[in-house]
Amino acid sequence: MSPYSPLPPFQLTRALPEDATDAALRSDVLHGLTSTPKTLPPKWFYDAHGSVLFDEITMLPEYYPTRAEREVLVARAAEIADVTGVRTLVELGSGSSDKTRHLLDAFTELTTYVPVDVSESALRGAADTLLAEHPALSVHALVADFTRPLALPETPGPRLVAFLGGTIGNLLPAERADFLRAVRGMLSPGDFFLLGTDLVKDEATLVAAYDDAAGVTAAFNKNVLAVVNRELGADFDLGAFEHVAVWDGEREWIEMRLRSAGEQVVKVPALDLAVEFGPGEELRTEVSAKFRQDGVRGELRAAGLELERWWTDAAGRFAVSLSSVSMEG
Ligand code: SAH
Ligand code: AVI
Repeated sequence: MSPYSPLPPFQLTRALPEDATDAALRSDVLHGLTSTPKTLPPKWFYDAHGSVLFDEITMLPEYYPTRAEREVLVARAAEIADVTGVRTLVELGSGSSDKTRHLLDAFTELTTYVPVDVSESALRGAADTLLAEHPALSVHALVADFTRPLALPETPGPRLVAFLGGTIGNLLPAERADFLRAVRGMLSPGDFFLLGTDLVKDEATLVAAYDDAAGVTAAFNKNVLAVVNRELGADFDLGAFEHVAVWDGEREWIEMRLRSAGEQVVKVPALDLAVEFGPGEELRTEVSAKFRQDGVRGELRAAGLELERWWTDAAGRFAVSLSSVSMEG
């Protein structure tokens, strides 16, 4: 190869070998379905179908977070570019990268975009659009689990790590603390962290956002059962579970659950498991925590990050914050 060959504009690296994904799913399903109460982690929603359903959710009239965050990004993209001087953007849980395009348009010094997601189909779909719009950009997609140690490619700094959409709320508090410390470990002094957080608000607005009239969120929720059926040969009857979204005012999070319509036994042959559900028994599939500024500042500080900017949409529903690396950290 000539030493002058340009870098390929698109590379995709699978940090998760197929068998690792398989082992992780088996372990999560075995642990979650034998726990009391039963749980499944939300990362298994996002096969190709689940990723499409999530994109449909973002367009629902009740689901305000995507529109609210987009409003902030459109208003603040130039300021973020000015403050950070970013040359590499790493985005965790990038999905369709749709809102990210507002950042890419404003980041005039950017050379490299590293989208990271468990969904290979979402990464490939996003790259097609991005490369057409930004042909000079080098896109290095990583199929990886952002809750596990990540090997990021060597790319030019300053680096901005972005975690948008409010996905941080899908991690439990202890997982969030570990995650934020891992983000700190990806940054050097002069790098930044851009975080999207959905904010605490009235219960009716929150519950409607997670229990829409068209039933798309219900289909998204039940998709995790379809994934377990396909991957582990289970016989979940999706019609025998009801979608439930409840607000926990003490912990300030929404819980999505699947409620068993009656008594049933579900077989998971790949795990040699038979799981009994009582009538009305609920399986927790997701928490979606909602935040306040002081809480976000405190969690960031505990991880060695210092909140520098806090922007919300005009209605105060969703915040995007920019943090730097703490000097004493
Ligand atoms: N950031 C986008 C997508 C949010 S949906 C937005 O703001 O609209 C959440 C995304 O995170 C999905 O694309 C999902 O596949 C990805 N995801 C969820 N858990 C993950 C994990 N543990 N590791 C990597 N990606 C994950
Ligand atoms: C990806 N994440 C921020 C979404 C949320 O709002 O918690 C996932 C979702 N669950 C139901 N609707 C959307």
